[in-house]
Amino acid sequence: MTGTYPNTRLRRTRATGWSRALHRETLITPADLIWPLFVTEGAGVEDPIASLPGVSRWSVDGIVARAKEAVDLGIPVVALFPNTQPDRRSDDGAEAHNPDNLMCRAIRAIKDTCGDDIGVLTDVALDPYTSHGQDGLLDDTGYVTNDDTVAVLVDQAINQAEAGADIIAPSDMMDGRIHAIRMALEMGSHHNVQIMSYAAKYASAFYGPFRDAVGSGGLLKGDKKSYQMDPANSDEALREVEFDIAEGADSVMVKPGLAYLDIARRVKDTFGVPVFAYQVSGEYAMIEAAAAAGAGERDALVLETLLAFKRAGCSGVLTYHAPVAARLLNG
Ligand code: PBG
Repeated sequence: MTGTYPNTRLRRTRATGWSRALHRETLITPADLIWPLFVTEGAGVEDPIASLPGVSRWSVDGIVARAKEAVDLGIPVVALFPNTQPDRRSDDGAEAHNPDNLMCRAIRAIKDTCGDDIGVLTDVALDPYTSHGQDGLLDDTGYVTNDDTVAVLVDQAINQAEAGADIIAPSDMMDGRIHAIRMALEMGSHHNVQIMSYAAKYASAFYGPFRDAVGSGGLLKGDKKSYQMDPANSDEALREVEFDIAEGADSVMVKPGLAYLDIARRVKDTFGVPVFAYQVSGEYAMIEAAAAAGAGERDALVLETLLAFKRAGCSGVLTYHAPVAARLLNG
């Protein structure tokens, strides 16, 4: 219903701060944020990541300190990614299901210290553990196999759940993995362990700094287009989401974020399930680079982009800006 000028003046409600506050449709709070963290070996280590200015890899003790910081800031979840030592990477990525791997040690350390004051989300995919940097197992032709990979992903997911992970987040894009992981969690009495599926994950040019951070970038030959989605596709994202929900996902993710807000909105409108977006490493780096170049004011860019995810229907956002944004939002 649209009025006619001058009876209706849309600028009336915009004229003052109190009125803009009253009419604001969307809010972003620290409770909407998931903070991705990179874990590295050692003790007392902070290892800055050159392509992600302001983001570091932390040894397990530092990860625990970051988790406590998240609790203090009101951030409900941290997402963990390991930088596996080179001698622990292999063709089959077996380190992924080693109960004493870096991820499991980090999960246990956070849970021992923070308990249920924070949720721990863990990534399921083999790329931080393989010598070839692909998310799954390769056949003789170099193709990433599906069903054999799913079997290993199940072991990886159960390994993380046993260590105390609260949310399993498969980012591998194999077919059928949500069902297989859900069944294994149920059989292992992990009924309340959630699955946040990277349901619509695109073969994107925005992942470069992440691959530096986990150390898989230099190893990766070729691309991930035989399993991650074509950026041209939107209907296909709905099919991916539909499958993952039917297979037992509690929430779904769209990734990358800003260039795919239309997908987030379609998923929300079509299924009404909790939708999350991942503002990925290349997006973080773009904002930092733009601010450093004087092309925009960093804090404003951060808050405006995060608000956009809420407006698009997302329940929350994975973002490396989580602590920066939470501080701004907490005043
Ligand atoms: C890998 C994975 C990737 C990201 C999260 N999990 C990279 C990839 O698919 O190559 C990217 C996150 C980011 O860029 O911030 N399974």
